[in-house]
Amino acid sequence: MPRVVVFSGAGISAESGLKTFRDSDGLWEEYSIMDVATPEAWKRDPELVLRFYNERRKQMRQALPNPAHFAIVKLASHMPVDVITQNVDDLHERAGSASVLHLHGELAKVRSEIYPEPLYDPVNDVINLGDLCERGTQLRPHVVWFGESVPMIEPASQLVSQADILIIVGTSLNVYPAAGLVHSAPYGCRKILIDPAEHNTGNVFRLQHIRENAGTGLPRIVDELIAGFISENA
Ligand code: APR
Repeated sequence: MPRVVVFSGAGISAESGLKTFRDSDGLWEEYSIMDVATPEAWKRDPELVLRFYNERRKQMRQALPNPAHFAIVKLASHMPVDVITQNVDDLHERAGSASVLHLHGELAKVRSEIYPEPLYDPVNDVINLGDLCERGTQLRPHVVWFGESVPMIEPASQLVSQADILIIVGTSLNVYPAAGLVHSAPYGCRKILIDPAEHNTGNVFRLQHIRENAGTGLPRIVDELIAGFISENA
């Protein structure tokens, strides 16, 4: 049975109404990364950082999974599927995906600004300045900021190294180390990128780029994979 890894980025949640980062109307047009998504920003103006992520969390709660998230769940009913996402939203989980690895953290969780663990649920779904962990330190969003390490990259790379099919969806592949995961795929792995934008993927061996939105492209590819699997095993 083929093992599938889906590697998703902000584009998979775009049709759920959540903004991507680098598209023309993306979050990094409205905000500066340096102001809201770095340890330096947190030191300089934690209130602004908290406001930014409180707003992201609020928008996430209002959003619903779209056909792309549900297509992955459908695929997983036929073959083993692991999702690796750069997204901090919970739409994969809410669609019903059971195996979701968050590379860049989760909006639904908060932690101490000093201790990496434990993770907490945000009280009333927001973090305010003065909200403390059990050990008395300020709480921060459980997200990976620019300049911070990505602790989940090793387990993610392990998953990709065992994939027969790698589906990359809705990511500009601009941010490392996440963007380098594709190079962990084994030689024979089938690689499919679903994203409407042009990508410079010349250095990725045999990558099929489907220039389509996730909400239409992914359900179509999933149906093709399921049909192929069923006919091979008939
Ligand atoms: N369907 C599929 N892809 C889409 C859609 C859609 N409907 N709409 C936009 N996209 C694509 C864009 O073409 C683009 O390639 O989604 C991609 C979004 O790219 P980015 O905004 O760069 O998002 P992402 O790749 O997830 O960013 C990586 O950067 O800022 C950090 O931590 C943040 O995890 C994030 C990381």
